[in-house]
Amino acid sequence: MSNILFVTSSIFGENSKSRTVALDLLTNLKLSEGAASVTTRDVAGLPHFDGDTLGALMTPAEKRDAAQTSRVALADALIGEAEAADTIVIAAPMYNFSISSQLKAWIDHIARSGRTFRYSAAGPEGLLKGKKVYIVAARGGLYANGGPAAAMDFQEPYLRGLLGFLGLTDVSFVYVEGLNMGPEAVANGFAVANKRIAQLVPTAIAA
Ligand SMILES: Cc1cc2nc3c(=O)[nH]c(=O)nc-3n(C[C@H](O)[C@H](O)[C@H](O)COP(=O)(O)O)c2cc1C
Repeated sequence: MSNILFVTSSIFGENSKSRTVALDLLTNLKLSEGAASVTTRDVAGLPHFDGDTLGALMTPAEKRDAAQTSRVALADALIGEAEAADTIVIAAPMYNFSISSQLKAWIDHIARSGRTFRYSAAGPEGLLKGKKVYIVAARGGLYANGGPAAAMDFQEPYLRGLLGFLGLTDVSFVYVEGLNMGPEAVANGFAVANKRIAQLVPTAIAA
């Protein structure tokens, strides 16, 4: 049975467009893979990875106070979810031309030297290998495939670079775009996303 980690990171909760499209992708993945368990992690309420968190990680386990123990437990749980997954689906809104600060907080928690990457004589090595990643990128404007705002897309290159650093190199994007450009553009954005899902997941039911 395949193990899917579903990460949502929007400030709009159930009205999130990246989440809506990612749920369609998930439905199709589950259909195509037969049986799959899904772990959902909404990172919207995740704390920043701050000095106290770093301090907790650097304190030996037996010397941590209750707050430090709980900070380390959260970071360990997030890493454990990523390690356990065969497939990771990330619903990623574009905010200010990049990812949400909430998704950045998740990344800051899971990027840990010696666990998800390491440095060797040959340079950095990502340790989250052999997993498939899908990213549903929701945008108010048009960036994909040479769209008019392409030069301002710091979301896709950042995510590709960061995930690659962690060893996650098999990454496919689904774009849902034009979401701040009126009803027609929104309908078109969802139609394009559905076609892409059908292309990415061969047994997809999406039109
Ligand atoms: C704080 C904020 C910043 C945004 N910045 C951008 C932006 O830089 N470029 C863009 O195309 N859309 C931008 N948008 C529009 C979002 O990408 C759009 O609302 C999308 O639906 C967000 O995904 P979500 O619904 O999953 O949160 C922004 C929206 C918010 C709330």
